[in-house]
Amino acid sequence: MSLRRPAKDQPESFEFNASSLEAANVIVAKYPKGKQQSAVMSLLYIAQKQNNNWIPLSAMKYIAKFLDMPYIKVYEVATFYSMYNLAPVGKYFVQVCTTTPCMIRGANQLVEACKEKISKNECELSNDKSCSWMEVECLGACVNAPMMQINDDYYEDLDKQKTLDILDKILNRETIKPGSYRGRVNNEPENNRKTLMDLKNA
Ligand code: FES
Repeated sequence: MSLRRPAKDQPESFEFNASSLEAANVIVAKYPKGKQQSAVMSLLYIAQKQNNNWIPLSAMKYIAKFLDMPYIKVYEVATFYSMYNLAPVGKYFVQVCTTTPCMIRGANQLVEACKEKISKNECELSNDKSCSWMEVECLGACVNAPMMQINDDYYEDLDKQKTLDILDKILNRETIKPGSYRGRVNNEPENNRKTLMDLKNA
């Protein structure tokens, strides 16, 4: 897991634009009176979307006021979950899962591919400034390990060469196909197996 710290360069202020404000109000209205603080994760996500995929400290303060809750509580949530970016990321943001199931299926190879193609260190922009990467904890797709997330999509059943090919494509602005790279539909068994005992097709 990478070290996550707020960016050194921070904008002085933040406020929701019209569409973010509308979305935030819809979410807050779903909670009973007095429980609006429960919307904090959704509002952080809206702020991140509005701000080029990262959350400045000023947005955390704005959300704290918006929900009438202490700033430190918003800060705690934003800094705990790796889906919230605390510093600018590339337009193509690659998150490689390196938790145990992905690790034993070769996640290190995906990390090597990112180091070769994007940047030697995590959370640094590629030479053309379009792409960055980081290691994250389980993304909930363990059955298709090893995998990575690029922006909102999952790329699964990867190895080093497949990862290099995907990264080449995004760096060349080519379209990439999300999902399994071993031809599975969603997370179906490989080789048409129907049960764990069906070893003849394994
Ligand atoms: S361990 Fe990688 S997705 Fe769960």
